[in-house]
Amino acid sequence: MGLTASSPIVLEGENLTMRFGGLVAMAEVAFTLKRGEILGIIGPNGAGKSTLLNIITGIYIPSSGEVRLEGERLNGVPAHKIVARGIARTFQSSRLFGDLSVLDNVIIGRHTHTKAGVFDAIFRRGRAKAELDAAAAHAETLLKSVSRGLHEQRHRPAGELAQADRRRLEIARALATDPKVLLLDEPSSGMDDADTDALMDDIRAVCAQRPDLALMIIEHDMRLVASLPHRVMVLDYGQKLADGPYEEIRRIPRVQEAYLGRKAAQHAGA
Ligand SMILES: Nc1ncnc2c1ncn2[C@@H]1O[C@H](COP(=O)(O)OP(=O)(O)OP(=O)(O)O)[C@@H](O)[C@H]1O
Ligand SMILES: [Mg+2]
Repeated sequence: MGLTASSPIVLEGENLTMRFGGLVAMAEVAFTLKRGEILGIIGPNGAGKSTLLNIITGIYIPSSGEVRLEGERLNGVPAHKIVARGIARTFQSSRLFGDLSVLDNVIIGRHTHTKAGVFDAIFRRGRAKAELDAAAAHAETLLKSVSRGLHEQRHRPAGELAQADRRRLEIARALATDPKVLLLDEPSSGMDDADTDALMDDIRAVCAQRPDLALMIIEHDMRLVASLPHRVMVLDYGQKLADGPYEEIRRIPRVQEAYLGRKAAQHAGA
């Protein structure tokens, strides 16, 4: 169950470079992600972390290099088809529909798997009703599996949720597409330690229930980075500085200079 030495690679990137005019946001980065694996991604602001997620999800087309999902090339595949093939994500800034209920936000997350469009998903019209009832039942189950507290709030507008519950809802919505790979962009940002700990427990539970799910998680919270991922990749100025278990990468001088040292200085109030 979960990650083993023989787990197959589900997602890989090779030689990924991303230029914006004269700016090189990503330079020849390679990575692999195995089935059941949790890969952390750290690095200073502007290191290229979100750019990598945008490349994987088809929002950006890399200047060179390629991304493969289960061996199939994703370059040039439109973003919505990449979702349908099994890669889901959350964004650094919230993209929930604040006026819609928690449940409807999850149902919309699943709409790539139904023939009905988003509009029908909200208003439950016509011939799509049976399909939408199934989507609602699925969304309820999913909410419960991510967080009982969130499920209890399923009829509230998403905009009324506390910050930590919004993040949980974003994760539930991403899971609604039954992904093979889930990409999280700074899920704990803006949270205090207690909320971050609770979120970590929920992510662990999500992974335990889905042992094949592979996760990439961009994080700045070092307590989370130290305990959740199997492996951590360090980016700096678009380059890969290191890739390995946290206990190994934290000892690498270049990683300390580029990132961990700066974080320690921030914590000391510098
Ligand atoms: N669409 C774009 N057009 C121009 N430059 C971009 C674009 N997207 C990203 N960049 C630049 O690429 C670099 C990497 O940005 P990215 O958002 O990937 O950083 P990040 O590691 O996610 O940082 P943060 O921790 O602040 O979220 C930055 O210099 C950024 O300004
Ligand atoms: Mg970012």
